[in-house]
Amino acid sequence: MHVLEVKDVSKSFPLPSQDGDSGANRLSVLGGVSFVVEHGETVAIMGPSGGGKSTLLSLLSGLDRPDQGQIMVLDQDIAAMNSTELNSFRARSIGIVFQQFQLLEHFTALENVRLPLDLRGVPAREADRIAHEKLDRVGLKDRSHHFPDQMSRGECQRVAIARVLAMGAPLIFADEPTGSLDAKNGKAVMDLLFASAKELGAAVVLVTHDAELAKRCHRTLKIENGRLS
Ligand SMILES: Nc1ncnc2c1ncn2[C@@H]1O[C@H](COP(=O)(O)OP(=O)(O)OP(=O)(O)O)[C@@H](O)[C@H]1O
Ligand SMILES: [Mg+2]
Repeated sequence: MHVLEVKDVSKSFPLPSQDGDSGANRLSVLGGVSFVVEHGETVAIMGPSGGGKSTLLSLLSGLDRPDQGQIMVLDQDIAAMNSTELNSFRARSIGIVFQQFQLLEHFTALENVRLPLDLRGVPAREADRIAHEKLDRVGLKDRSHHFPDQMSRGECQRVAIARVLAMGAPLIFADEPTGSLDAKNGKAVMDLLFASAKELGAAVVLVTHDAELAKRCHRTLKIENGRLS
């Protein structure tokens, strides 16, 4: 079984209506994208700005839906799930590291890491234990009770990684995970993500403009004008 199988996925967005048209014109952003990712594999997605990388990642992680095609995660088509099914499936199987971390600002580091476990109904003491362990793993044991605005950018990104690790998902997506970090912090964060994914046997699919980072992945997919090249 593949961890991810993308079959002929297309996505378009409505264009703003202009004088003289009916407003029915659409901008095609992805046109028939297909590929497979195996368990434990690391894959970089590269390509020019506007090529459709973030759009693709938002479809693969179930944040948006394709116009057509199938997105099979562990043999289940997330594009065909209703939103209740999708939410519960994502909470178990898909981890996401965003460029801007998406930490909840009124939650401490510990609470941010615990959140996916709480949503999944993991008992409080167990969730606490796992969250502490993962924060320790990313070197932030003594920042557990800090809020995001009381931490550096590199520390926030490490909290986001601890959150993904706490989930233990077999598939992790990351959109420019080092995009807002300096070279040293960026490397430290990626070392951690690669090492932890290996430990968990998780696959990582990441979007990056950084050729050095892409080289560390097993494989690079190039996307241009909405197609793999
Ligand atoms: N909601 C939307 N409505 C209309 N057009 C959109 C929408 N979202 C994205 N687009 C268009 O789709 C194209 C692809 O956008 P996308 O964000 O996927 O690019 P990208 O490859 O991630 O670029 P970058 O490297 O700059 O992040 C762009 O031309 C963008 O203008
Ligand atoms: Mg993008």
